[in-house]
Amino acid sequence: MHDAIILGAGGAGLFCAATAGQAGARVLVVDHNQEPGKKILISGGGRCNFTNVGAVPDRYLSENRHFARSALSRYTPADFVALVEKHRIAYHEKTLGQLFCDGSARQIVALLMDECAAGGVDFAFGASISDVTHADGLFSVSTSAGRFTAPNLVIATGGPAIPKLGATGFAYQLGKQFGCRIIPPRPALVPFTLPQGENLFRELAGVAAEVVAKAGKTAFREAALFTHKGLSGPAMLQVSSYWRHGEAIAVDFLPDAPADWLQAAKRQRPRAGLKSVLAAALPERLAEALSAQLALPGELGAQKDAALVTAMGRLKAWAFRPDGTEGFAKAEVTAGGIDTAALSSRTMMANQIGGLFAIGEAVDVTGWLGGYNFQWAWASAHAAGQAI
Ligand code: FDA
Repeated sequence: MHDAIILGAGGAGLFCAATAGQAGARVLVVDHNQEPGKKILISGGGRCNFTNVGAVPDRYLSENRHFARSALSRYTPADFVALVEKHRIAYHEKTLGQLFCDGSARQIVALLMDECAAGGVDFAFGASISDVTHADGLFSVSTSAGRFTAPNLVIATGGPAIPKLGATGFAYQLGKQFGCRIIPPRPALVPFTLPQGENLFRELAGVAAEVVAKAGKTAFREAALFTHKGLSGPAMLQVSSYWRHGEAIAVDFLPDAPADWLQAAKRQRPRAGLKSVLAAALPERLAEALSAQLALPGELGAQKDAALVTAMGRLKAWAFRPDGTEGFAKAEVTAGGIDTAALSSRTMMANQIGGLFAIGEAVDVTGWLGGYNFQWAWASAHAAGQAI
């Protein structure tokens, strides 16, 4: 018999297994995939953005904004960086505090598997789970690879983002079985789709620009990318986590320009047209599409100041009304999940059922784009692994 069964061999499950195993627990990790860490392997464009040096709690979404604080403060980005350095994995900071492997995401999976080996962790891969029960202080997990029992059970099966990698909503099924509320899961860090009426912007597929994108009160300054279906790029992925159906997104195409920028251009370049003025600050095709939409033909010098003020107002808060997102098939992460109210923020153990834990993406804690979700996986896994 094992001391703990961990369901899911993703970042959270593996790191929890390594932590508990190295502390002396006999640990079994069960996964229906044939290999561990499939999401890690494709993460960060194959280089795994394994943490963010600025992973502070306000960069996470949750119904309880304070829940992640404890685990994040006790296992920090610097702790994971020390582990990466111990394994002699070369890395670099790309932008905005994002740390990536110089080589390959495979190195992070190897690191986790080495740490598991150091903790004597057992694995059951390719094991589909048919039933989980709890009686007399023991959890019993029936799988295609046999039946396993342990006094501790860790739900680390993630969320349903990218089903083709083996992602499922199994964590919610189990959470519900054990009386936990589930915050409705929704795709996050996901591209938007735009309705047919926005056809003009489809012509811009492939064009990217640095913008400030805003959903509700939350704004991100990063690149936005027009796609055949709508809007993507880091700025759009970031705001998608905050966006609700029916809401508009406001895009500032000229984040560095003051409100009187077009009036100043009128004085400095009165013979120039709007398109050529915009093209000085934006990609040519975008400048062309925006000036066509703004419909101020002729020279800037001939435009009334009031018309320029209105145009500038639109350029600094262009309203897009997505009709949806590309869904779980394309989402980097799932927002929502097992309600944190059911868990201890110190140990990630269920308040009502001793020995039951939930960690990683399965829980209603969702990070920004940029290494924040892995840092949550490591931190929540470490908290649970120490408590087992
Ligand atoms: P994860 O989903 O990784 O693991 C869950 C495991 O449970 C899987 O191995 C799965 O097979 C298993 N499982 C599921 N259902 C099961 C069932 N019914 N029975 C048995 N096993 C089951 N984050 C970041 O910080 N930096 C980055 O660079 C990226 N990049 C990135 C790219 C892409 C394309 C995606 C989709 C996601 C990212 N992310 C990311 C997000 C990050 O990958 C994610 O938040 C973590 O992998 C979550 O780790 P978990 O271990 O919680 O779940």
